[in-house]
Amino acid sequence: MGGPAVAVAAAAAALALLLGAVLGRPDPPPGAAAAAAAARRCAAPCRCLGDLLDCSRRRLARLPEALPPRVARLDLSHNRLSFIKANSMSHLQNLREVKLNNNELETIPNLGPVSANITLLSLAGNRIVEILPEHLKQFQSLETLDLSSNNISELKTPLPPLQLKYLYINSNRVTSMEPGYFDNLANTLLVLKLNRNRISAIPPKMFKLPQLQHLELNRNKIKNVDGLTFQGLGALKSLKMQRNGVTKLMDGAFWGLSNMEVLQLDHNNLTEITKGWLYGLLMLQELHLSQNAINRISPDAWEFCQKLSELDLTFNHLSRLDDSSFLGLSLLNTLHIGNNKVSYIADCAFRGLSSLKTLDLKNNEISWTIEDMNGAFSGLDKLRRLILQGNRIRSITKKAFTGLDALEHLDLSDNAIMSLQGNAFSQMKKLQQLHLNTSSLLCDCQLKWLPQWVAENNFQSFVNASCAHPQLLKGRSIFAVSPDGFVCDDFPKPQITVQPETQSAIKGSNLSFICSAASSSDSPMTFAWKKDNELLHDAEMENYAHLRAQGGEVMEYTTILRLRNVEFASEGKYQCVISNHFGSSYSVKAKLTVNMLPSFTKTPMDLTIRAGAMARLECAALGHPAPQIAWQKDGGTDFPAARERRMHVMPEDDVFFIVDVKIEDIGVYSCTAQNSAGSISANATLTVLETPSFLRPLLDRTVTKGETAVLQCIAGGSPPPRLNWTKDDSPLVVTERHFFAAGNQLLIIVDSDVSDAGKYTCEMSNTLGTERGNVRLSVIPTPTCDSPQMTASSLDDDGWATVGVVIIAVVCCVVGTSLVWVVIIYHTRRRNEDCSITNTDETNLPADIPSYLSSQGTLADRQDGYISSESGSHHQFVTSSGGGFFLPQHDSNGKLDPFAQGLACLLSGTFGKPLKRAHLDAFSSFGQPVDCQPRAFHLKTRSSPDLDSESEEYGKERTDFQQENHTCTYKQTVENHRTPNFQSYDLDT
Ligand SMILES: *[C@@H]1O[C@H](CO)[C@@H](O)[C@H](O)[C@H]1NC(C)=O
Ligand SMILES: *[C@@H]1O[C@H](CO)[C@@H](O)[C@H](O)[C@H]1NC(C)=O
Repeated sequence: MGGPAVAVAAAAAALALLLGAVLGRPDPPPGAAAAAAAARRCAAPCRCLGDLLDCSRRRLARLPEALPPRVARLDLSHNRLSFIKANSMSHLQNLREVKLNNNELETIPNLGPVSANITLLSLAGNRIVEILPEHLKQFQSLETLDLSSNNISELKTPLPPLQLKYLYINSNRVTSMEPGYFDNLANTLLVLKLNRNRISAIPPKMFKLPQLQHLELNRNKIKNVDGLTFQGLGALKSLKMQRNGVTKLMDGAFWGLSNMEVLQLDHNNLTEITKGWLYGLLMLQELHLSQNAINRISPDAWEFCQKLSELDLTFNHLSRLDDSSFLGLSLLNTLHIGNNKVSYIADCAFRGLSSLKTLDLKNNEISWTIEDMNGAFSGLDKLRRLILQGNRIRSITKKAFTGLDALEHLDLSDNAIMSLQGNAFSQMKKLQQLHLNTSSLLCDCQLKWLPQWVAENNFQSFVNASCAHPQLLKGRSIFAVSPDGFVCDDFPKPQITVQPETQSAIKGSNLSFICSAASSSDSPMTFAWKKDNELLHDAEMENYAHLRAQGGEVMEYTTILRLRNVEFASEGKYQCVISNHFGSSYSVKAKLTVNMLPSFTKTPMDLTIRAGAMARLECAALGHPAPQIAWQKDGGTDFPAARERRMHVMPEDDVFFIVDVKIEDIGVYSCTAQNSAGSISANATLTVLETPSFLRPLLDRTVTKGETAVLQCIAGGSPPPRLNWTKDDSPLVVTERHFFAAGNQLLIIVDSDVSDAGKYTCEMSNTLGTERGNVRLSVIPTPTCDSPQMTASSLDDDGWATVGVVIIAVVCCVVGTSLVWVVIIYHTRRRNEDCSITNTDETNLPADIPSYLSSQGTLADRQDGYISSESGSHHQFVTSSGGGFFLPQHDSNGKLDPFAQGLACLLSGTFGKPLKRAHLDAFSSFGQPVDCQPRAFHLKTRSSPDLDSESEEYGKERTDFQQENHTCTYKQTVENHRTPNFQSYDLDT
């Protein structure tokens, strides 16, 4: 081509441009002539199409001259350009987009001043080996840069600040990336593609691109993704990392991608789905994991991905779908599990997938899920499409599709289905397509319904079904068999005749389950046992065949599953599966429970502790089912410590605490461990020690001579202290006027004498210590009676002309509590009427003593009053047994004996006041059959055994009812101690 011709063409083009500029922007007129005109105005050999100047595929080695200045888009792709002169485009003020892909450029070209106006620059398919910042810097308006298919091997020196939104560096040789490389694009970059490189690792903090929405890293060599790798991509919507050979995603690998909606990880080498690597993917809607090696979905995998709507798990290694495999995916719409090895589907595997519309299970190994389970798909009430194509389903029961009320499309093709129960599909009212192709059908009477039903629903075009049995119909389409042709002459499919039985066993024992089936076919049988729906691969089985007793020709097949040395892990539901060429029969599921009697691992120990301390009783037991531990105190459930909230039971630690232990906590604690196999129990005695102490302050006493003095020493302590009294630091000389009551807590001195005055010391001691206290007794002499002749010796002779009666009654009764009644009747009367002493409150027993004593709970060292009359009638005060009471004894005449009469007199009077003879008479006049005339009778008193005062003299008769003087005046009575028992005694008389 000559120079002048080029010059002419250039001149023509310039003219055309000039004209164009003068005339405005004419659209190319239609027709070939117009095209030629346009071509003329265009820079040859390019074509102009509006603002596009198309110079692609012209084998250009140089830029055409005289590019028309109005051009906005310049396509120079697929040429042989290796260099572009910097000022060759400087007149293209409108230029915005430049395509230079598939040329022979070795660097990013310098396009001169127009660079600043360029928004799109494609340099894909050149020979660029390096991205130099100084070459890019001039592209201040650049939004899209395509550098794919070059020879770039590293991304090292950071890109200059640009307005880039789309950056493509696919198909280079990038092996390494420097952190910070993209940082200058942080404010604008939306899409970054790095597919088909050789990136093997993503350095930490590589991407700080808060605007980035799509990142592609397909076909690299990233094997591991560390935690926080993608931190800094807060706006990312999709991430593609297909075909990398990723084997390991560390926990938190995608953390920070909290707005990401699509994650594509297909064609990698992942084996497991865990919540660890899904952590933080809160907005994820699509997860593509097809063509990995996933064999496990961990139970809580989806905790962070509750928005997931599409999950693709096709072509993985899943063999089981567990209860928790899809837990929490309530928004899931589409689930693809095709081309795995799924054979086990747990009862509730699809529970909670309440939005699921498509479930694809094609090309798995599913059989019994459909054959035996009750509604594996129940709960999927929104499901429209269910693909079960290419599984191992041989029979379909009417329960198989329970719950699939919205199903429109059911694909059962490529299963060797033999039998379909009537109405198997009838609850799917919206079914529009049923895909079925099988040539294995057992065309017996059970199948008669099928051709008609298929025809009625217009499913013939999807159904290709022919018979395999009986021989007569073999190969015939079901639609070609007349309804009468479906007959039940035999039953080739096994039928269960003996079901395995539910049983329970003790751990360690041996047992077996038995299962039998019959079949009219002689095709070989196979036997299998399942436990909790899973095949037992190493089961110990014994199988045999025998002719059925009745029914002649029919063979029966029995399988026995032997379980030896059963463990708790052996518990479960056992089921036999007996199959032959015509199908499988499933027995009922027989439950095995394994029990173990409880045995203690910790038993409570006897415990002796001081009051106020903490008691800790341990008890733990093993057993199966896990035993329940229960506590008792003294055989009952009344725990004083529980009432006062001092008791704590720690169920976790098998410990039982009593804090601030008190005397009333004393007792035998039993721990019982119980389960369905039985119960055992263990006892421990809690002993509480308390140093002796005075429960009430010791009070000095002053009495008038002749009165009764009562000295109290109310003692507490555990074990109950023994009490001992001394007088004036010497042993107490006990006379017949001294009485002890309530375990020596009361010292009663009757008819006190001046010589009784002095210092009394009460000493109490138990194993923990000894306590002493003093009581001072003063006796005020009475001027009239304190005559010198009234000496102790004279008392016995005539000073004791008075009659004294002392009755100490200690009665224990009142509703479960011990109550000590101390009744002291002191009857004294002096011959000298002047000296007759009226009763004073001073000598009454303190009104609160009984209740006070009772509050201690027990008077272990009880002193039983013992009185017997010489006439042979006995009055025993029973204190040891609850409810004990002294019983009125009748003599042979049926009359009350004198003692009882005396007491009756006492009791029928008003308590707390001396009962005058006149009053008694008044009572008698009411016709009471009580003779209040005291008769002579003898009382023998026995004092505390501690004091060993059981001398004969003591027992000598010394009381006597005065015969002549019939005043029945009781000096001492008891106030406020009426009890129901006492009253009943009263009535008894
Ligand atoms: C860039 O575009 C503007 C607006 O169209 C124009 O005025 C300016 O001349 C262009 N710059 C160059 C160097 O062509
Ligand atoms: C996946 O891992 C297995 C074993 O780890 C290996 O044999 C296989 O080649 C890997 N496949 C890919 C695509 O990396």
